[in-house]
Amino acid sequence: MSSSKPQIFKGLEGVYVSETRLSYIDGLNSRLYYVGYRIEDLVAFSNYEEVAFLLYFYRLPKKEEFELFRALMREAREVPPDVADIVKRMALRNAHPMDILRTCVSYISMYDPELYVGTREANIRKAVRLVSKMPTLVALIYRVSRGLEPIEPRKDLGHAENFLYMLHGKVPSEFEAKVMDTIFILHAEHGMNASSFASLVTASTLADIYSAVVSGISTLKGPLHGGAAEAAYYQFKEIGEPERVEAWVQEALKARRRIMGMGHRVYKSYDPRAKIMKELDGEIASKYGGEPEKLYKIAIKLEEVALKEFEARGRTDIQPNIDYYTPIAYTALKIPPELFTLTFAASRTVGWTAKVIEYVQDNRLIRPLDYYIGELDKKYIPITER
Ligand code: SDX
Repeated sequence: MSSSKPQIFKGLEGVYVSETRLSYIDGLNSRLYYVGYRIEDLVAFSNYEEVAFLLYFYRLPKKEEFELFRALMREAREVPPDVADIVKRMALRNAHPMDILRTCVSYISMYDPELYVGTREANIRKAVRLVSKMPTLVALIYRVSRGLEPIEPRKDLGHAENFLYMLHGKVPSEFEAKVMDTIFILHAEHGMNASSFASLVTASTLADIYSAVVSGISTLKGPLHGGAAEAAYYQFKEIGEPERVEAWVQEALKARRRIMGMGHRVYKSYDPRAKIMKELDGEIASKYGGEPEKLYKIAIKLEEVALKEFEARGRTDIQPNIDYYTPIAYTALKIPPELFTLTFAASRTVGWTAKVIEYVQDNRLIRPLDYYIGELDKKYIPITER
Protein backbone atom coordinates (compact mmCIF):
# COMPACT_ATOMS: atom_id res chain seq x y z
CA MET A 1 0.00 0.00 0.00
CA SER A 2 1.52 3.37 -0.97
CA SER A 3 2.56 5.41 2.08
CA SER A 4 1.34 8.87 1.03
CA LYS A 5 -2.36 9.34 0.26
CA PRO A 6 -2.94 10.27 -3.41
CA GLN A 7 -5.17 13.25 -4.35
CA ILE A 8 -8.82 12.07 -4.58
CA PHE A 9 -10.87 13.87 -7.27
CA LYS A 10 -14.35 13.49 -5.70
CA GLY A 11 -16.98 13.40 -8.42
CA LEU A 12 -14.06 13.50 -10.90
CA GLU A 13 -14.32 17.30 -10.57
CA GLY A 14 -11.92 19.04 -12.96
CA VAL A 15 -10.63 15.72 -14.40
CA TYR A 16 -10.29 15.40 -18.21
CA VAL A 17 -10.90 11.80 -19.41
CA SER A 18 -10.77 12.25 -23.20
CA GLU A 19 -10.50 14.68 -26.13
CA THR A 20 -13.57 15.58 -28.15
CA ARG A 21 -14.63 17.67 -31.14
CA LEU A 22 -18.34 17.36 -30.33
CA SER A 23 -18.96 20.29 -27.98
CA TYR A 24 -17.19 22.98 -26.03
CA ILE A 25 -18.59 24.59 -22.88
CA ASP A 26 -17.07 27.92 -21.82
CA GLY A 27 -18.45 27.84 -18.27
CA LEU A 28 -17.08 31.25 -17.30
CA ASN A 29 -18.46 33.14 -20.31
CA SER A 30 -21.86 31.47 -20.89
CA ARG A 31 -20.82 29.90 -24.18
CA LEU A 32 -21.75 26.53 -25.71
CA TYR A 33 -20.59 25.25 -29.11
CA TYR A 34 -21.52 22.07 -31.00
CA VAL A 35 -18.62 21.19 -33.34
CA GLY A 36 -17.59 24.85 -33.30
CA TYR A 37 -21.04 26.34 -34.03
CA ARG A 38 -22.54 28.61 -31.33
CA ILE A 39 -25.69 27.11 -29.79
CA GLU A 40 -27.51 30.42 -30.47
CA ASP A 41 -26.86 30.07 -34.23
CA LEU A 42 -27.93 26.41 -34.31
CA VAL A 43 -31.20 27.29 -32.54
CA ALA A 44 -31.79 30.23 -34.88
CA PHE A 45 -30.87 28.62 -38.21
CA SER A 46 -30.67 24.80 -37.85
CA ASN A 47 -32.93 21.97 -36.66
CA TYR A 48 -32.53 18.83 -34.58
CA GLU A 49 -32.06 16.48 -37.53
CA GLU A 50 -29.30 18.68 -38.94
CA VAL A 51 -27.66 18.92 -35.47
CA ALA A 52 -27.70 15.11 -35.30
CA PHE A 53 -25.91 14.95 -38.67
CA LEU A 54 -23.40 17.56 -37.40
CA LEU A 55 -22.63 15.51 -34.28
CA TYR A 56 -22.17 12.24 -36.18
CA PHE A 57 -20.17 13.63 -39.11
CA TYR A 58 -18.52 16.77 -37.57
CA ARG A 59 -19.85 19.03 -40.37
CA LEU A 60 -23.15 20.44 -41.62
CA PRO A 61 -24.72 18.37 -44.45
CA LYS A 62 -25.07 19.41 -48.07
CA LYS A 63 -28.71 19.64 -49.21
CA GLU A 64 -28.94 16.17 -50.79
CA GLU A 65 -27.04 14.58 -47.87
CA PHE A 66 -29.48 16.16 -45.45
CA GLU A 67 -32.52 14.97 -47.40
CA LEU A 68 -31.18 11.39 -47.40
CA PHE A 69 -30.30 11.55 -43.67
CA ARG A 70 -33.72 12.97 -42.80
CA ALA A 71 -35.46 10.29 -44.90
CA LEU A 72 -33.49 7.56 -43.07
CA MET A 73 -34.59 9.03 -39.74
CA ARG A 74 -38.24 9.16 -40.81
CA GLU A 75 -38.13 5.56 -42.06
CA ALA A 76 -36.77 4.38 -38.68
CA ARG A 77 -39.40 5.95 -36.40
CA GLU A 78 -41.62 2.92 -35.94
CA VAL A 79 -41.12 0.60 -32.96
CA PRO A 80 -42.04 -3.14 -32.81
CA PRO A 81 -45.77 -3.51 -31.94
CA ASP A 82 -45.09 -5.71 -28.88
CA VAL A 83 -43.30 -2.85 -27.12
CA ALA A 84 -46.74 -1.53 -26.15
CA ASP A 85 -47.26 -4.69 -24.02
CA ILE A 86 -44.07 -3.97 -22.08
CA VAL A 87 -45.23 -0.40 -21.50
CA LYS A 88 -48.68 -1.56 -20.39
CA ARG A 89 -47.29 -4.10 -17.88
CA MET A 90 -44.92 -1.57 -16.32
CA ALA A 91 -47.49 1.26 -16.33
CA LEU A 92 -49.97 -1.00 -14.52
CA ARG A 93 -47.39 -1.31 -11.72
CA ASN A 94 -46.87 2.48 -11.67
CA ALA A 95 -43.26 2.23 -12.86
CA HIS A 96 -41.60 5.64 -13.34
CA PRO A 97 -41.72 6.54 -17.06
CA MET A 98 -37.89 6.75 -17.13
CA ASP A 99 -37.73 3.11 -15.97
CA ILE A 100 -40.18 2.16 -18.72
CA LEU A 101 -38.09 4.04 -21.31
CA ARG A 102 -34.89 2.35 -20.10
CA THR A 103 -36.57 -1.07 -20.41
CA CYS A 104 -38.00 -0.30 -23.87
CA VAL A 105 -34.56 0.67 -25.22
CA SER A 106 -33.17 -2.58 -23.88
CA TYR A 107 -36.07 -4.50 -25.43
CA ILE A 108 -35.88 -2.99 -28.92
CA SER A 109 -32.11 -3.59 -29.07
CA MET A 110 -32.79 -7.24 -29.86
CA TYR A 111 -34.59 -6.16 -33.06
CA ASP A 112 -31.49 -4.41 -34.40
CA PRO A 113 -29.76 -6.78 -36.86
CA GLU A 114 -26.45 -4.96 -36.34
CA LEU A 115 -26.63 -4.99 -32.52
CA TYR A 116 -23.22 -6.62 -32.12
CA VAL A 117 -21.50 -5.06 -35.13
CA GLY A 118 -19.01 -2.57 -33.68
CA THR A 119 -17.76 -0.70 -36.76
CA ARG A 120 -18.13 3.09 -36.85
CA GLU A 121 -20.51 2.86 -39.79
CA ALA A 122 -22.72 0.26 -38.06
CA ASN A 123 -22.72 2.28 -34.84
CA ILE A 124 -23.85 5.41 -36.71
CA ARG A 125 -26.65 3.42 -38.41
CA LYS A 126 -27.75 1.99 -35.03
CA ALA A 127 -27.57 5.42 -33.41
CA VAL A 128 -29.72 7.02 -36.14
CA ARG A 129 -32.28 4.22 -35.83
CA LEU A 130 -32.43 4.64 -32.06
CA VAL A 131 -32.55 8.46 -32.08
CA SER A 132 -35.44 8.25 -34.55
CA LYS A 133 -37.34 5.83 -32.32
CA MET A 134 -36.92 7.65 -29.01
CA PRO A 135 -39.80 10.15 -29.54
CA THR A 136 -42.03 7.25 -30.61
CA LEU A 137 -41.17 5.39 -27.38
CA VAL A 138 -41.78 8.50 -25.24
CA ALA A 139 -45.14 9.17 -26.89
CA LEU A 140 -46.08 5.48 -26.54
CA ILE A 141 -45.28 5.56 -22.80
CA TYR A 142 -47.31 8.75 -22.43
CA ARG A 143 -50.41 7.42 -24.23
CA VAL A 144 -50.40 3.77 -23.04
CA SER A 145 -49.88 4.91 -19.41
CA ARG A 146 -53.06 6.96 -19.80
CA GLY A 147 -55.04 4.16 -21.45
CA LEU A 148 -54.96 6.02 -24.79
CA GLU A 149 -54.45 4.37 -28.17
CA PRO A 150 -50.87 4.73 -29.48
CA ILE A 151 -50.47 7.07 -32.47
CA GLU A 152 -48.25 5.87 -35.31
CA PRO A 153 -45.43 8.19 -36.42
CA ARG A 154 -45.95 10.16 -39.65
CA LYS A 155 -43.23 10.40 -42.29
CA ASP A 156 -44.34 13.77 -43.60
CA LEU A 157 -43.56 15.62 -40.34
CA GLY A 158 -40.23 16.82 -38.92
CA HIS A 159 -38.68 15.10 -35.88
CA ALA A 160 -39.99 17.61 -33.32
CA GLU A 161 -43.43 18.19 -34.87
CA ASN A 162 -43.95 14.42 -35.27
CA PHE A 163 -43.19 13.96 -31.55
CA LEU A 164 -45.93 16.43 -30.59
CA TYR A 165 -48.27 14.82 -33.13
CA MET A 166 -47.70 11.33 -31.59
CA LEU A 167 -48.33 12.75 -28.12
CA HIS A 168 -51.54 14.62 -28.80
CA GLY A 169 -52.87 13.37 -32.16
CA LYS A 170 -52.79 16.88 -33.60
CA VAL A 171 -50.22 18.41 -35.95
CA PRO A 172 -48.65 21.22 -33.90
CA SER A 173 -48.56 24.87 -35.00
CA GLU A 174 -45.35 26.17 -36.54
CA PHE A 175 -44.57 27.98 -33.29
CA GLU A 176 -45.09 24.84 -31.17
CA ALA A 177 -42.92 22.79 -33.54
CA LYS A 178 -40.19 25.48 -33.32
CA VAL A 179 -40.35 25.45 -29.49
CA MET A 180 -40.04 21.65 -29.44
CA ASP A 181 -37.20 21.68 -31.97
CA THR A 182 -35.38 24.30 -29.90
CA ILE A 183 -35.71 22.12 -26.78
CA PHE A 184 -34.39 19.12 -28.71
CA ILE A 185 -31.39 21.11 -30.04
CA LEU A 186 -30.56 22.53 -26.59
CA HIS A 187 -30.53 19.08 -24.96
CA ALA A 188 -28.66 17.22 -27.72
CA GLU A 189 -25.10 17.27 -26.40
CA HIS A 190 -23.21 18.73 -23.46
CA GLY A 191 -19.63 17.59 -22.87
CA MET A 192 -18.78 15.00 -20.27
CA ASN A 193 -21.96 15.24 -18.18
CA ALA A 194 -22.79 12.36 -15.84
CA SER A 195 -25.06 10.44 -18.24
CA SER A 196 -22.64 10.82 -21.17
CA PHE A 197 -19.82 9.62 -18.93
CA ALA A 198 -21.93 6.63 -17.87
CA SER A 199 -22.55 5.78 -21.54
CA LEU A 200 -18.82 6.06 -22.21
CA VAL A 201 -17.86 3.77 -19.32
CA THR A 202 -20.24 1.14 -20.71
CA ALA A 203 -19.01 1.54 -24.29
CA SER A 204 -15.35 1.46 -23.22
CA THR A 205 -15.81 -2.23 -22.26
CA LEU A 206 -16.90 -2.75 -25.92
CA ALA A 207 -20.49 -3.42 -24.82
CA ASP A 208 -23.02 -2.49 -27.54
CA ILE A 209 -24.30 1.04 -28.15
CA TYR A 210 -27.83 0.23 -26.92
CA SER A 211 -26.37 -0.84 -23.55
CA ALA A 212 -24.47 2.46 -23.46
CA VAL A 213 -27.73 4.38 -24.00
CA VAL A 214 -29.47 2.34 -21.27
CA SER A 215 -26.65 3.46 -18.92
CA GLY A 216 -27.24 7.05 -20.06
CA ILE A 217 -30.99 6.89 -19.41
CA SER A 218 -30.46 5.33 -15.98
CA THR A 219 -28.01 8.08 -15.03
CA LEU A 220 -29.98 11.01 -16.48
CA LYS A 221 -32.95 10.12 -14.24
CA GLY A 222 -31.49 11.54 -11.02
CA PRO A 223 -32.71 14.98 -9.77
CA LEU A 224 -29.16 16.34 -9.68
CA HIS A 225 -29.00 15.77 -13.46
CA GLY A 226 -31.82 15.35 -15.99
CA GLY A 227 -34.50 14.92 -13.34
CA ALA A 228 -34.06 18.57 -12.33
CA ALA A 229 -36.63 19.99 -14.78
CA GLU A 230 -39.40 17.84 -13.23
CA ALA A 231 -38.17 18.91 -9.78
CA ALA A 232 -38.08 22.58 -10.88
CA TYR A 233 -41.70 22.35 -12.08
CA TYR A 234 -42.88 21.03 -8.70
CA GLN A 235 -40.78 23.70 -7.00
CA PHE A 236 -42.66 26.42 -8.93
CA LYS A 237 -45.98 24.73 -8.09
CA GLU A 238 -45.01 24.53 -4.38
CA ILE A 239 -44.28 28.27 -4.39
CA GLY A 240 -47.67 28.81 -6.04
CA GLU A 241 -47.58 32.63 -6.44
CA PRO A 242 -44.83 35.18 -7.29
CA GLU A 243 -45.71 36.97 -4.02
CA ARG A 244 -44.65 33.88 -2.04
CA VAL A 245 -41.16 33.66 -3.56
CA GLU A 246 -39.32 35.80 -1.00
CA ALA A 247 -40.54 33.78 2.01
CA TRP A 248 -40.05 30.50 0.18
CA VAL A 249 -36.41 31.31 -0.70
CA GLN A 250 -35.58 32.28 2.89
CA GLU A 251 -37.08 29.03 4.15
CA ALA A 252 -35.46 26.88 1.45
CA LEU A 253 -31.95 28.27 1.92
CA LYS A 254 -32.27 28.06 5.70
CA ALA A 255 -33.19 24.38 5.29
CA ARG A 256 -30.17 24.07 2.91
CA ARG A 257 -32.48 22.93 0.08
CA ARG A 258 -31.19 23.03 -3.49
CA ILE A 259 -33.04 25.41 -5.79
CA MET A 260 -33.78 23.04 -8.63
CA GLY A 261 -32.72 24.21 -12.08
CA MET A 262 -29.90 26.30 -10.64
CA GLY A 263 -26.18 25.66 -10.27
CA HIS A 264 -23.88 23.67 -12.51
CA ARG A 265 -20.58 21.83 -12.27
CA VAL A 266 -19.19 23.63 -15.34
CA TYR A 267 -21.26 26.81 -15.82
CA LYS A 268 -20.15 29.33 -13.21
CA SER A 269 -22.07 31.88 -15.27
CA TYR A 270 -25.55 31.88 -16.83
CA ASP A 271 -26.19 28.66 -18.81
CA PRO A 272 -26.65 29.97 -22.39
CA ARG A 273 -29.35 27.35 -22.90
CA ALA A 274 -31.31 28.78 -19.95
CA LYS A 275 -31.01 32.24 -21.52
CA ILE A 276 -32.48 30.97 -24.79
CA MET A 277 -35.32 29.18 -22.94
CA LYS A 278 -36.01 32.25 -20.78
CA GLU A 279 -36.50 34.45 -23.87
CA LEU A 280 -38.68 31.81 -25.52
CA ASP A 281 -40.73 31.44 -22.32
CA GLY A 282 -41.38 35.17 -22.33
CA GLU A 283 -42.97 34.80 -25.76
CA ILE A 284 -44.86 31.69 -24.62
CA ALA A 285 -46.18 33.40 -21.49
CA SER A 286 -47.69 36.31 -23.43
CA LYS A 287 -48.98 34.00 -26.20
CA TYR A 288 -50.57 31.33 -23.95
CA GLY A 289 -51.37 33.06 -20.66
CA GLY A 290 -52.82 30.56 -18.15
CA GLU A 291 -50.46 28.17 -16.36
CA PRO A 292 -47.40 28.81 -18.58
CA GLU A 293 -47.67 32.52 -17.80
CA LYS A 294 -48.14 31.87 -14.07
CA LEU A 295 -45.15 29.51 -13.91
CA TYR A 296 -43.09 32.03 -15.89
CA LYS A 297 -43.86 34.86 -13.45
CA ILE A 298 -42.88 32.64 -10.51
CA ALA A 299 -39.68 31.52 -12.27
CA ILE A 300 -38.67 35.09 -13.10
CA LYS A 301 -39.30 36.25 -9.51
CA LEU A 302 -37.51 33.20 -8.06
CA GLU A 303 -34.47 33.83 -10.28
CA GLU A 304 -34.34 37.48 -9.17
CA VAL A 305 -34.66 36.68 -5.44
CA ALA A 306 -32.42 33.57 -5.44
CA LEU A 307 -29.59 35.25 -7.38
CA LYS A 308 -29.72 38.19 -4.97
CA GLU A 309 -29.48 35.77 -2.02
CA PHE A 310 -26.66 33.79 -3.63
CA GLU A 311 -24.79 37.01 -4.41
CA ALA A 312 -25.21 38.13 -0.79
CA ARG A 313 -23.55 34.82 0.16
CA GLY A 314 -20.73 35.39 -2.33
CA ARG A 315 -22.07 32.71 -4.69
CA THR A 316 -22.38 34.48 -8.05
CA ASP A 317 -21.43 31.10 -9.58
CA ILE A 318 -24.90 29.64 -8.95
CA GLN A 319 -27.09 30.61 -11.93
CA PRO A 320 -30.07 29.08 -13.79
CA ASN A 321 -29.25 26.03 -15.90
CA ILE A 322 -31.07 24.32 -18.79
CA ASP A 323 -33.60 22.69 -16.47
CA TYR A 324 -34.85 25.92 -14.94
CA TYR A 325 -36.94 27.40 -17.77
CA THR A 326 -37.91 24.29 -19.73
CA PRO A 327 -40.93 23.45 -17.49
CA ILE A 328 -42.76 26.54 -18.78
CA ALA A 329 -42.32 25.52 -22.43
CA TYR A 330 -43.22 21.89 -21.70
CA THR A 331 -46.41 23.05 -19.97
CA ALA A 332 -47.40 25.14 -22.99
CA LEU A 333 -46.79 22.08 -25.20
CA LYS A 334 -48.95 19.98 -22.84
CA ILE A 335 -46.03 17.72 -21.94
CA PRO A 336 -46.61 16.57 -18.34
CA PRO A 337 -43.80 16.77 -15.71
CA GLU A 338 -43.28 13.00 -15.58
CA LEU A 339 -42.30 13.19 -19.27
CA PHE A 340 -39.75 16.06 -18.97
CA THR A 341 -36.73 13.83 -18.39
CA LEU A 342 -37.84 11.36 -21.07
CA THR A 343 -37.93 14.25 -23.54
CA PHE A 344 -34.44 15.23 -22.38
CA ALA A 345 -33.32 11.58 -22.89
CA ALA A 346 -34.88 11.44 -26.37
CA SER A 347 -32.78 14.42 -27.39
CA ARG A 348 -29.59 13.46 -25.54
CA THR A 349 -29.52 10.06 -27.26
CA VAL A 350 -27.69 11.89 -30.05
CA GLY A 351 -25.06 13.16 -27.59
CA TRP A 352 -24.66 9.83 -25.83
CA THR A 353 -24.22 7.89 -29.09
CA ALA A 354 -22.04 10.51 -30.81
CA LYS A 355 -19.69 10.55 -27.82
CA VAL A 356 -19.55 6.73 -27.73
CA ILE A 357 -18.85 6.56 -31.48
CA GLU A 358 -16.09 9.16 -31.08
CA TYR A 359 -14.49 7.53 -28.01
CA VAL A 360 -14.37 3.93 -29.25
CA GLN A 361 -12.40 5.08 -32.32
CA ASP A 362 -9.44 5.24 -29.93
CA ASN A 363 -10.86 3.12 -27.14
CA ARG A 364 -9.32 2.71 -23.68
CA LEU A 365 -11.21 0.78 -20.97
CA ILE A 366 -12.33 3.33 -18.36
CA ARG A 367 -11.12 2.00 -15.04
CA PRO A 368 -10.11 4.59 -12.37
CA LEU A 369 -8.80 3.80 -8.90
CA ASP A 370 -10.23 4.08 -5.40
CA TYR A 371 -7.91 4.58 -2.44
CA TYR A 372 -8.13 1.76 0.15
CA ILE A 373 -8.27 3.08 3.73
CA GLY A 374 -9.31 -0.13 5.49
CA GLU A 375 -7.25 -2.69 7.48
CA LEU A 376 -5.13 -5.48 5.91
CA ASP A 377 -4.25 -9.12 6.76
CA LYS A 378 -7.08 -9.57 9.26
CA LYS A 379 -7.31 -13.09 10.77
CA TYR A 380 -10.33 -15.10 9.58
CA ILE A 381 -12.37 -16.30 12.64
CA PRO A 382 -14.70 -19.25 11.95
CA ILE A 383 -18.39 -18.36 12.45
CA THR A 384 -18.69 -20.75 15.42
CA GLU A 385 -16.10 -18.64 17.27
CA ARG A 386 -17.39 -15.12 16.44
C1 SDX B 1 -27.95 19.12 -15.83
O1 SDX B 1 -23.16 18.31 -16.37
C2 SDX B 1 -23.97 18.73 -17.27
O2 SDX B 1 -23.61 19.25 -18.31
C3 SDX B 1 -25.43 18.51 -16.94
C4 SDX B 1 -26.44 19.16 -17.86
C5 SDX B 1 -26.41 18.52 -19.23
O3 SDX B 1 -26.82 19.18 -20.20
O4 SDX B 1 -26.08 17.31 -19.31
O5 SDX B 1 -26.16 20.53 -17.98
C6 SDX B 1 -27.86 18.97 -17.33
O6 SDX B 1 -27.86 18.15 -15.14
C7 SDX B 1 -28.07 20.50 -15.25
C8 SDX B 1 -28.07 20.49 -13.69
C9 SDX B 1 -29.46 20.13 -13.19
N1 SDX B 1 -29.46 19.96 -11.73
C10 SDX B 1 -30.03 20.84 -10.91
O7 SDX B 1 -30.52 21.91 -11.28
C11 SDX B 1 -30.06 20.41 -9.46
C12 SDX B 1 -29.70 21.58 -8.56
N2 SDX B 1 -28.27 21.89 -8.76
C13 SDX B 1 -27.32 21.34 -7.89
O8 SDX B 1 -27.63 20.27 -7.13
C14 SDX B 1 -25.87 21.53 -8.29
O9 SDX B 1 -25.72 22.80 -8.73
C15 SDX B 1 -25.30 20.56 -9.30
C16 SDX B 1 -25.49 19.15 -8.87
C17 SDX B 1 -25.93 20.77 -10.62
C18 SDX B 1 -23.80 20.84 -9.44
O10 SDX B 1 -23.30 20.66 -8.21
P1 SDX B 1 -21.74 20.58 -7.87
O11 SDX B 1 -20.89 21.11 -8.95
O12 SDX B 1 -21.46 19.21 -7.37
O13 SDX B 1 -21.69 21.64 -6.74
P2 SDX B 1 -22.07 21.33 -5.22
O14 SDX B 1 -23.29 20.45 -5.17
O15 SDX B 1 -20.86 20.88 -4.52
O16 SDX B 1 -22.50 22.79 -4.75
C19 SDX B 1 -21.47 23.72 -4.41
C20 SDX B 1 -22.10 24.65 -3.39
C21 SDX B 1 -22.78 23.88 -2.26
O17 SDX B 1 -22.73 24.72 -1.15
P3 SDX B 1 -21.86 24.18 0.14
O18 SDX B 1 -22.48 22.81 0.49
O19 SDX B 1 -20.43 24.04 -0.39
O20 SDX B 1 -22.07 25.23 1.18
O21 SDX B 1 -23.14 25.41 -4.04
C22 SDX B 1 -24.39 25.11 -3.41
C23 SDX B 1 -24.22 23.81 -2.66
O22 SDX B 1 -25.09 23.77 -1.56
N3 SDX B 1 -25.35 24.92 -4.48
C24 SDX B 1 -26.64 25.21 -4.37
C25 SDX B 1 -27.20 24.87 -5.61
N4 SDX B 1 -26.25 24.37 -6.41
C26 SDX B 1 -25.11 24.41 -5.69
N5 SDX B 1 -27.35 25.72 -3.34
C27 SDX B 1 -28.67 25.90 -3.57
N6 SDX B 1 -29.30 25.58 -4.75
C28 SDX B 1 -28.59 25.08 -5.77
N7 SDX B 1 -29.19 24.77 -6.90
